[in-house]
Amino acid sequence: MIYPILTPEEAAEFVQNGHTIGVSGFTIPGNPKKVPVAIAAKARREHEAGREFRINLFSGASTNDYTDGELSRAHALNFRAPYQSLPELRKHINAGELHYNDRHLSEMAQEFRYGYYGKMDIAIIEVQSITDEGDLILGTAVGNSPTWLKVADKVIIEMNDQIPESIRGLHDIYVPLDPPCRREIPIYSAHDRAGTVTAHVDPKKVIGVVPTSMPLGKEEAFTPVDDTTRRIGENVCAFLINEMKQGRMPKTFLPIQSGVGNIANAVLDALESSTEIPPFEMYTEVVQDSVLKLLESGRCKFASTCSMTFSHEAMMEFFANVDKLHDKLLMRPSEISNNPEVIRRIGVISMNTAIEADLFGNINSSHVGGTRLMNGIGGSGDFTRNAYTSIFMCPSIKKDDCISTIVPMVTHVDHTLHSVDIIVTDQGVADLRFKDPIQCAHEIIEKAAHPVYRPLLREYLHLCEKRGGHVLMDPDIALAFHSALVKEGDMRKVNFGK
Ligand code: COA
Repeated sequence: MIYPILTPEEAAEFVQNGHTIGVSGFTIPGNPKKVPVAIAAKARREHEAGREFRINLFSGASTNDYTDGELSRAHALNFRAPYQSLPELRKHINAGELHYNDRHLSEMAQEFRYGYYGKMDIAIIEVQSITDEGDLILGTAVGNSPTWLKVADKVIIEMNDQIPESIRGLHDIYVPLDPPCRREIPIYSAHDRAGTVTAHVDPKKVIGVVPTSMPLGKEEAFTPVDDTTRRIGENVCAFLINEMKQGRMPKTFLPIQSGVGNIANAVLDALESSTEIPPFEMYTEVVQDSVLKLLESGRCKFASTCSMTFSHEAMMEFFANVDKLHDKLLMRPSEISNNPEVIRRIGVISMNTAIEADLFGNINSSHVGGTRLMNGIGGSGDFTRNAYTSIFMCPSIKKDDCISTIVPMVTHVDHTLHSVDIIVTDQGVADLRFKDPIQCAHEIIEKAAHPVYRPLLREYLHLCEKRGGHVLMDPDIALAFHSALVKEGDMRKVNFGK
């Protein structure tokens, strides 16, 4: 070992009030697990002594409770980007205690290199091991670590002995040059390797290594597929099969991107059992438990990802079988796993979940009721805008029928109608291609909205017709569904007052 060994507390002493810190990982995998807890403890001591202590925290995506949870409970965060999904941190953001900047995940690393956020003081990076040359074999996610290692003044390494040596070779570390010197990213199909196995760090920057022995994978299991998510999965699958039959998608199929969560799991389940969709590749930002099954069965031939977002159980299974998966998986930086250039070149089919969609195809992915942050845009924008075909999915109703996810107008826009091709709910598939906004509205009402809400949505459109225009909209009633939810707790009680 060429670097000094530190305790988490010794490492945390290097972090000062006002510092900008970058952490490794992407979603729960790959995050540091000991030093952030020690930083939170330091923050509590400083606050008790009457001193200010808050840091700016940058990651690949969401992190774990050791990082976002501990630091937000200790009121130690001043600024956070580019994504989060932890209820604890969400609570502090929605209470206005810290600044949160929701960013496209593919852009975070380059924005940092461009100098948008000033300097990074310290990067805290979880690794599997350190090579004799001092370079790093990263853990179960790559995130923005390669860029953090470049831009940070100092680096603290957490070396977790629970990550097996056999993971070596799964990383594909590639950092593009910045404009005006950038060249094309040499990925022409999902399985092409562009970079190196190790991440480079200048040894002079390394403060030291904190040895850890921390369990990996998510504690909570995924919720099983239910009737609604199963129907969404089947509808997506039927749509894709028809696209191939109509000649709009090649018979050899195209790489898919699939978001996280239960709907994504249901879609992957449907793809697994489909006999009409050939074995496929994935070009995606996270692989979750269901992808492991697909890789083992051969339905998924290859998965390019940024992170292994597995449950603890699936992570153990992955480690046990990792030798057999070396020619089927690559883990890349978020800048590459979500890269618009590559997504468009190889023709990725994007599939993401919406909180709500409006009659014209605008999508809200991030803010409930237009104000309360849920998670963030994540990678959904990277994929949607550049996809061969972009699909958004959601259940047509929520909360005992009181919420229609199809609304006259979304309360917050993450994806505009220009980027959205298809909306799928448990009711069916609304195809927005080759349609003007009014045609889209009829398509969405008849194919995607729940039957209980169809008459109300038709009534809204009818009332708007008096005003005319290319898009039918009446500012007095556009948010009447949401008003009914706030006032009556039920969108069915909407009153257009006209
Ligand atoms: N109106 C009001 N509340 C709504 C709502 C709506 N239309 N839709 C969802 N909610 C609430 C739910 O009731 C739930 O609240 P609760 O936890 O208090 O019950 C919460 O929002 C989450 O809903 P849920 O159905 O559990 O969401 P999910 O797990 O399917 O996630 C997103 C849906 C949109 C939040 C999630 O996919 C996301 O964060 N997407 C953005 C990032 C992304 O797309 N990443 C993928 C790229 S890989």
